[in-house]
Amino acid sequence: MKAPIKVAVTGAAGQIGYSLLPRIASGSVFGPDQPVELRLIEIPNALKPLEGVVMELNDCSFPLLSNIVATADLDEGFSGANWALLVGSVPRKAGMERKDLLGINGKIFISQGAAIAKNAASDVRVVVVGNPCNTNCLIAMNNGRDVPSDRWFAMTRLDENRAKSQLATKAGVHSTAVSNVAIWGNHSSTLYPDFENAKINGKPVTSVITDTQWLENDFIKSVQLRGAAIIEARGLSSAKSAAHGVVDTVRSIIEPTAAGDFHSVALCSDGSYGIEAGLITSFPVRSNGSKLEIVQGLPLSDFSKGKIEATVNELKQEREMVKELIPA
Ligand code: NAI
Repeated sequence: MKAPIKVAVTGAAGQIGYSLLPRIASGSVFGPDQPVELRLIEIPNALKPLEGVVMELNDCSFPLLSNIVATADLDEGFSGANWALLVGSVPRKAGMERKDLLGINGKIFISQGAAIAKNAASDVRVVVVGNPCNTNCLIAMNNGRDVPSDRWFAMTRLDENRAKSQLATKAGVHSTAVSNVAIWGNHSSTLYPDFENAKINGKPVTSVITDTQWLENDFIKSVQLRGAAIIEARGLSSAKSAAHGVVDTVRSIIEPTAAGDFHSVALCSDGSYGIEAGLITSFPVRSNGSKLEIVQGLPLSDFSKGKIEATVNELKQEREMVKELIPA
């Protein structure tokens, strides 16, 4: 039997946590022969509901779940963690400006970034889900600089999955026929789902879906605004699909990418495609099973370049709003 890997999850008593934890404990993320220890982190006020989550996880008797630690102490929670999935954050409330939200959540990610650098395992990898996830990740990474910058990620995989589903429905095919969907930029209403490089059954999307009007307008908007549409319909934000996005994100980092395909995740830009180095930006990525690389050389039309510039500019504005939270 392999030694358990330690997976820290913040916001573990929240909606996404409720859908995500059984997926991790049952082997959907790290595989059917990999035991896991869950280190569940919450704010003190949510420790009581977290107790209920722990009771339910125990009641599942998952064969791969070796231990559960539930805590509000960051040092304890991130101790020895091989993965840190940062889901917890404060939701935007009525009357709150984006700057206020960035400030409130930004402070959370200062202490989490520092606690990860101080306590986690030397191979720790971090996926930020809590919004605004790109900028939260930027703050955590810069306050946890002992962890190399190529270990920090923010989730845009849900946006990739949403884009695949929209393209598949329009083309009348199953979503598995859709590949090479790059999400560029910020996980926000400015994100750019790149249909020009995407494929359906190996053919360019633009040769299968010839309705350019739809691709350039309705499709992009439907992906950008899908989160709001879910809230409108469900009265709650996406949780099951977000949890599935986390599962897919981790798996596409640790498993080799299918030949010729790529996935999307936000990571620390190295200057690829002219995007300022150091910004946490969503790119098309490929994994060889241990190392992730940004896919180079994708052709970008002026239309795509304009969309990417707009979403990257938003990331720069967010960084400006939280500049006092980022050490020089
Ligand atoms: P939720 O409100 O149900 O749960 C959030 C949990 O985080 C709560 O239990 C809360 O107590 C906890 N929390 C707050 N501050 C914390 C801190 N400092 N340390 C640890 N835990 C803390 O929210 P839900 O639905 O689970 O969503 C979580 C986050 O994920 C939100 O920010 C949401 O916007 C974001 N999200 C991101 C997506 C993405 O694609 N990147 C998709 C969907 C949601």
